[in-house]
Amino acid sequence: MSPLEPLIDGHGRPIGDVRVSVTDRCNFRCQYCMPAEGLAWLERPQLLTYEELERLVRLLAAMGVHDVRLTGGEPLVRRELWRLVERLAALEDVHDLSLTTNGYLLAKQVDELVAAGLRRVNVSLDALAPDRFFQLTRRDSLAQVLAGLAAAQRHPELRPIKVNVVALKGFTEPEVVRFAEFARERPFEVRFIEFMPLDADQAWDMDQVLPNDEIRAMIDAVYPLVADDRPAHATATTWRFADGRGRIGFVSPVSVPFCDDCNRIRITADGMLRTCLFSLHETDLRGLMRDGGDDGELEAAIREAVWSKELKHRINDPGFRQPARSMSRIGG
Ligand code: 5AD
Ligand code: SF4
Repeated sequence: MSPLEPLIDGHGRPIGDVRVSVTDRCNFRCQYCMPAEGLAWLERPQLLTYEELERLVRLLAAMGVHDVRLTGGEPLVRRELWRLVERLAALEDVHDLSLTTNGYLLAKQVDELVAAGLRRVNVSLDALAPDRFFQLTRRDSLAQVLAGLAAAQRHPELRPIKVNVVALKGFTEPEVVRFAEFARERPFEVRFIEFMPLDADQAWDMDQVLPNDEIRAMIDAVYPLVADDRPAHATATTWRFADGRGRIGFVSPVSVPFCDDCNRIRITADGMLRTCLFSLHETDLRGLMRDGGDDGELEAAIREAVWSKELKHRINDPGFRQPARSMSRIGG
């Protein structure tokens, strides 16, 4: 596809990254994301097909959105995800294609995903003690996730392998040094992420946020850390272990918002364009495609939505309103 004008929002930020959710379903029920029971799934016809997803990604990539991340729910529960990976990896304007997964099905699927062109993966893992993993995810599956990570590690094409740890006050503290040691011993980049108000139970409270400063201090006391420079658009600040054994990252949307140079948008599994995790408004791209809209119309709708992209989130403001969609229905 010939290049189009870059996609820029009304605050002058060029958009270069899209998170594409391929399903709202998940085989885990993490406390900070899903309710213990319930939450109706989308029906199959409501999901964008692989053809529709490819069409959107191709159009976005031609507008300079070169980084594409597949998310869920849990993306690996969508049937034959490798087929989508293969289509997207073949697009010339897609420069970076990655996957965010809970890791449960990774060991089973990693060979076909890599063969299809996947080069990068993020695995969510919030506890290294089996009982605490169960408490958080409500599934007894730590061994499968670790097996998924090990299987990923066997593919040298798949780098970096990142491990995302959502930190919760009163839960994560005993895991912190364990994860630091995990990062020192394994070739994974471990990143702590602050808990955001995107839980289905709407139980989020500032008191449940464990600020990354505190985590960093806990690690630094045992294994001294040295700061790296932060590249543009990086959501994480990274620190090296002073003795040279690996590094650790911190994504701090609550304590240090990084909205100023945010370059991302999101597409939900049912084809809604969201310009911010915390958007209260979304744009129906599925409807437009299924009503026979051509690429010009799609492009115009995307540009108009992106023009009104939120300046920043308002988590820390009085009167903050949590979006109706919780994380598993948005796509991290
Ligand atoms: N706050 C922070 N991170 C979250 N994730 C899911 N829900 C939340 C939340 N409320 C994370 C997942 C995964 C990524 C997609 O988003 O753990 O790593
Ligand atoms: Fe970007 Fe919204 Fe996230 Fe801020 S909260 S970094 S504006 S997506």
